[in-house]
Amino acid sequence: MLAMAAAAEDYGISPPLQLHMVSAFLAMEPPDVVISLARDFGGGCLDDRVQSCIWRQCICKADVKLQGPYLKRFLKKLILEIESDGEDVLDELYERYAFYLTSLQDNDVDKGNSRILKSFSFLFSDESSGLVSCPKSRNLEVQLQCSLNLLEGDTGCSLWPSSIFMSEFVLSFPEIFVNKCCFEVGSGVGLVGICIAHVKASKVILSDGDLSALANMKVNLELNHLTTNTCTIDDHSVDHSMVQCVCLPWESASKEDLCSFSPDIILGSDVIYNPSCLPHLVRVLATLLRPDSSLHNERRFNHSLQEKVTSNGSPASEILGHPSANGPVAFFTSVIRNIKTFDYFLALAAKADLIVMDITEKVEIFEFLPYLSSYPRLNVRIFKIYFQVISSNSLV
Ligand SMILES: C[S@@+](CC[C@H](N)C(=O)[O-])C[C@H]1O[C@@H](n2cnc3c(N)ncnc32)[C@H](O)[C@@H]1O
Repeated sequence: MLAMAAAAEDYGISPPLQLHMVSAFLAMEPPDVVISLARDFGGGCLDDRVQSCIWRQCICKADVKLQGPYLKRFLKKLILEIESDGEDVLDELYERYAFYLTSLQDNDVDKGNSRILKSFSFLFSDESSGLVSCPKSRNLEVQLQCSLNLLEGDTGCSLWPSSIFMSEFVLSFPEIFVNKCCFEVGSGVGLVGICIAHVKASKVILSDGDLSALANMKVNLELNHLTTNTCTIDDHSVDHSMVQCVCLPWESASKEDLCSFSPDIILGSDVIYNPSCLPHLVRVLATLLRPDSSLHNERRFNHSLQEKVTSNGSPASEILGHPSANGPVAFFTSVIRNIKTFDYFLALAAKADLIVMDITEKVEIFEFLPYLSSYPRLNVRIFKIYFQVISSNSLV
C-alpha cells in the first residue's frame, strides 16, 4: 500500500482515490463502479496517467485464472469509455484485451459455478476524509475464493453482505474478541473467521453444514496464511494457533458436542432465512448460550470494554457484553428479507429464553470498505443475543 501511495504522489494525485479504485478492482466490483472511481482519481478523465495506473496496479496484479472473465468485461468497458472520451488507449490495454478475446470463451463469463478470487482491503484510515477510523486495528487484506452462483447449493461458497458487516464489526471492536474463544455458525467462505483470527481471538472455530462450503472455507483460510484443522464434531483437540473448521449441521448437532466447544462469543451472519432450519438453529444457539453448560462460569466478558464508549454515549460493555458480566453472548448480522421468517426466529428465541437485542443504532461500526458500492451496508442489522437473566447473579 505504501508503494501504491508513493506512486500516486508521483502523479500529484490524491492517494486515497487511487486506493479506492484499485481496491474496488481487486474486490471485483462491477466495471462501471471501478471506472467511475478511476474518473474520480483522474479528475474526471481516463488519460494516460490513469490508464497506466490501471495497467500496473490492477490488470498486472489480477489472477488471470480466477479473474479472467472479469478482466475481459472490465477491459472491454474501459476501452469503450476511453475511446468515446476521444483519448488514446494504451497499447498494453488493447493487447491484453485482444489476448482475452482469443483465449477466453464468452460463456466463461456466465458460468454460474465457476470460482472467482476477490481481494478485500480493509482501509483503516482514509486520508481523503481526514478520518483515522480505527487506530487499534492493523491493516488487513483478505483473499477469498467464492462462487458467483447464489442458488443451486452454492450458498455457502458465496459471500453475503451480512458477513462483510460482521467483519467491520469485529474490526471496529477488536478488544471484545481478543483472547476469546469464538464460534461461528454457517461460516460460508470464512471472511468473519479470518477477521477474528486477525484480532487475536484465543480460539477460532468455524462451522458449516455444507461440505463444499467447508472445503472452500479451508482454501480461503490457507490463502490467508491461517493453519486449518478440519475435524469432525467429535474431535476437540485444541491448538490455539489454528482455525478449526467443523462440519456442524444444526439438525444433528448434539447438546454434548455443542457444550464441549464452550465459546465465549458465538457469531452468525445471514443464517436466518430458511424457516425449516430455524428451530434447529435456535436450539444450537440456546445450547451454546445457556449457562448450565457450566463451562462458562469462570468467563469474564466485559473487563476489556470499560473505557470504550458507543455512539449513543453508553459504555461499550453495556451494549456488547452479557448483563451478568460472565455469560457468553452471540452476535448475529442479518438482512431481513422476509419479516415473517424473522418474526418466527424471534418467537423461537423467546421460547428458548433468549433475548435478541437490535444494537445496529447503538454501536458505531466503522466503514472499512468505502469503495465497495455493491455492498448494501444499510440493509444489514446486527443483534446481540444472550440467555435471559433475572438479576446480575441468578439466571433462569
Ligand atoms: C446465506 S449463507 C451465509 C454464509 C456466510 N455466513 C456469509 O454471510 O457470507 C448461509 C450459510 O449457512 C449454512 N447453513 C444453512 N443451513 C444450515 C444448516 N441447517 N446447518 C448448518 N449450516 C447451514 C450454509 O451452508 C451457508 O454457509
